[in-house]
Amino acid sequence: MKSDPQSARAYRVDDHQPGGGFSADALSGLAASPKRLPSKYFYDARGSGLFERICEQPEYYPTRTELSIMRDHVGSIAAALGPEVRLVEYGSGSGLKTRLLLRHLESPVAYVPVEISRNALAASVAALGREFPRIQMLPVCADFTQPIKLPRAARAPRQTVVYFPGSTLGNFAPDDALRLLRQMRDEAGQGGGTLDGGVLIGIDLVKDKAALEAAYNDAAGVTAEFTLNLLVRLNRELGAHFDLAGFRHRARWHPLAERIETHIVSRREQDVHIGSRTFHFAEGEAMLVEYSCKYTLQGFARFAARAGLRVASVWTDPARQFSLQWLVCD
Ligand code: AVJ
Repeated sequence: MKSDPQSARAYRVDDHQPGGGFSADALSGLAASPKRLPSKYFYDARGSGLFERICEQPEYYPTRTELSIMRDHVGSIAAALGPEVRLVEYGSGSGLKTRLLLRHLESPVAYVPVEISRNALAASVAALGREFPRIQMLPVCADFTQPIKLPRAARAPRQTVVYFPGSTLGNFAPDDALRLLRQMRDEAGQGGGTLDGGVLIGIDLVKDKAALEAAYNDAAGVTAEFTLNLLVRLNRELGAHFDLAGFRHRARWHPLAERIETHIVSRREQDVHIGSRTFHFAEGEAMLVEYSCKYTLQGFARFAARAGLRVASVWTDPARQFSLQWLVCD
């Protein structure tokens, strides 16, 4: 049979996933005071499925708003990014947004998705490879918060564009968000190509408290289930003994920090055992599991400047709920 790498069933995946991070991070977070667990561990198979369902909830506006901005402005977005780009995406790119972008870009050279979940990565790249046989697929299985050397394209690109949709930057505390923006800037600046590229990023905007809190406390309870899935994972993967009925989800808007803070709250005083270790929870004790930072347009421009990035274009929806921003190396 003829061998054609672009039609092969499985792509060679560049693997940088050490594994074992969940156990170490969970145990140290549970021993910390206050207790916390990193939000990146939401996304196992069940968690990723629950997140997809969150995106369909009427209160959760970011996903459909970002998609509507893409649909309305994809022509000018593609023009801003220019021809023959090497597109690096942080996170899973199975979705409509990536396809829309790839469809409208002028002769893109390569697509480099960096994704922690091997299954999500394989599925996404297989589907995109079928739809875009002329774009070189270079999947990397890695935690994108770690600096790693990403693969170069076989054909020389004009520039590298880092695509970071979904307002995922909001899940990072300011110091980590800044580090990540600098890492993206470095990738776009010397990640292959004759010109400096840029970063196309989805940023959720500050809005009224009621709309924000509703988005993270949907009436159907899908977000609560998503949050508590962390405990399901601890039980299954670490043999923990969390009684799911003893905990609840809480998401609140903090106007000064401009972020939603999500906690898992203990409904009563209790001890939880993991192996030989015991973790005590007071009644009402809250364990931090996620930040979802929101920005004003001005605030984000200042923040990006600290990472050496200048806002060249901003696209928003008519109600200014969400923004897509094109940042270039300064
Ligand atoms: C993954 C950043 C898009 O923070 O809005 C949704 C994750 N958490 N509901 C967000 C999430 C609770 C989401 N992002």
